[in-house]
Amino acid sequence: RTTENQLLVIFGASGDLTARKLVPALYKLYQEKHLPEHFAVLGVARSFMTDEQFRKRVALESKHIKDSDEFIAQFSEKLFYQDLGDSYDVSYMELNERLQDLNTAYQTDNNFIFYLSTPPSLFEPIAKNLTAQGLNDEREGWKRLIIEKPFGYSLDTAQSLNNDLHRYFKEKQIYRIDHYLGKETVQNILVTRFANSIFEPLWNRSYIHHVEITNAESDGVESRGGYYDKSGALRDMFQSHLLQLVALIVMEPPLSADPEEIRNEKLKALKSLRLMTDPEVLEQNTIRGQYLASEIDGERVNGYREEEDVDPDSTTETYAAVKFYVDNWRWADVPFYVRTAKRMPTKVTEVVIHFKSPHHQIFKNSNINKDNKLVIRIQPDEGILVKFGVKVPGQGFKVERGNLDFYYSSLGDTHIMEAYERLLLDAMQGDATLYARADEVEAAWRFTDPILEYWKEGNARIYGYSAGVWGPEHADELIEGKGQWRNPGAH
Ligand code: BG6
Repeated sequence: RTTENQLLVIFGASGDLTARKLVPALYKLYQEKHLPEHFAVLGVARSFMTDEQFRKRVALESKHIKDSDEFIAQFSEKLFYQDLGDSYDVSYMELNERLQDLNTAYQTDNNFIFYLSTPPSLFEPIAKNLTAQGLNDEREGWKRLIIEKPFGYSLDTAQSLNNDLHRYFKEKQIYRIDHYLGKETVQNILVTRFANSIFEPLWNRSYIHHVEITNAESDGVESRGGYYDKSGALRDMFQSHLLQLVALIVMEPPLSADPEEIRNEKLKALKSLRLMTDPEVLEQNTIRGQYLASEIDGERVNGYREEEDVDPDSTTETYAAVKFYVDNWRWADVPFYVRTAKRMPTKVTEVVIHFKSPHHQIFKNSNINKDNKLVIRIQPDEGILVKFGVKVPGQGFKVERGNLDFYYSSLGDTHIMEAYERLLLDAMQGDATLYARADEVEAAWRFTDPILEYWKEGNARIYGYSAGVWGPEHADELIEGKGQWRNPGAH
């Protein structure tokens, strides 16, 4: 694909994401010569800043970049800033004028991307104001809108957000970022499954015993208590990133790698998750927890309720584990166990496919066959690990675990694109494969909503767990009978 000349407009440009992720990602793309010949960035936010101040704020110099100052300066000259002030009508007219000036000066061919790195409450007003200026009109040049999660707070709110946006932009103009889809290892799920003939024949209920997904972070909520307390682990991670992972594991082979074919299959996968509405099922199959104060490496860490901007009586979960089934031909009766949490012993995300034991076991004193696993390590130590039984040399048939492990680090110096680099470049090229479509987001909410509702009503107990352990002990019961949670990150 080619990257056409274009102007990228970032709303919320004074925020953290712009300096921490977006501008560095753009710089990397520039360095790797992925940006088009004619390109510029216009940062937009409420507060006043000059172009120079904006360039300083994103402070590329301080990001340990190895390039010459001159090269960095060349890139910085493509960065501009426009304040929006408080009076929207006037400001958007001025913004439009500035855009047109830059478009002419930088020959960006009326191709504009609007990246909304703002609170979701601003998505609709920004889309509306851009439309009032004709900036959604694709008669001359294309116009794209990128938005960041959360996409709604529930099914209802997600639907109304989608409806609002669709009033101004067509679905094919809207790119919903789920940064997990930008991760190399997440994309590799598609390749593992559909570019190999050794896994897919086994990828079904005949051979798979259960599927386990863990997303663990060692950090607490840090400075995001205000946002997190209204959200919780299920909304923050499960509804979005983790159900996207589930969709890639569950989906049927698409007809081709065309974005719509892939997204159609992901949608079908999400629609096939069995909704849990029966309180008894919800009670048995979901667990929520909250981290308590503890000592880690001799230092006291706050409990969740002591964190800044968190309600001292909060019942928001920082741990969520859900067991569910997928109602289709491929996955009937195969349980999925998904857990996500803050303040775990380490930061790790992995998917584990647990295979069934052979139908007839001839090596009586060996239990290794239960252990056939495919581990898709999303992060860190990214890789694909196959665990299988090998004979221990010597008399008899003692079986031990063998490993066939591929680690991305073995690719040497290959530059692995950061999620934001990959996703920005895709949007710049009009490729929406790794972006979540409106119907996918809604299907993910449809599945998550009843759990949230059940929890909200105060039915499910909230278990405390000490910061730095693998969540509430009670969570082990969820997986009982199927072995136990794998120690994630282990080799
Ligand atoms: C974000 C969540 O979407 O993903 C954060 O809002 C979470 O709470 C983060 O920490 C995790 O991303 P990663 O890439 O570090 O696993």
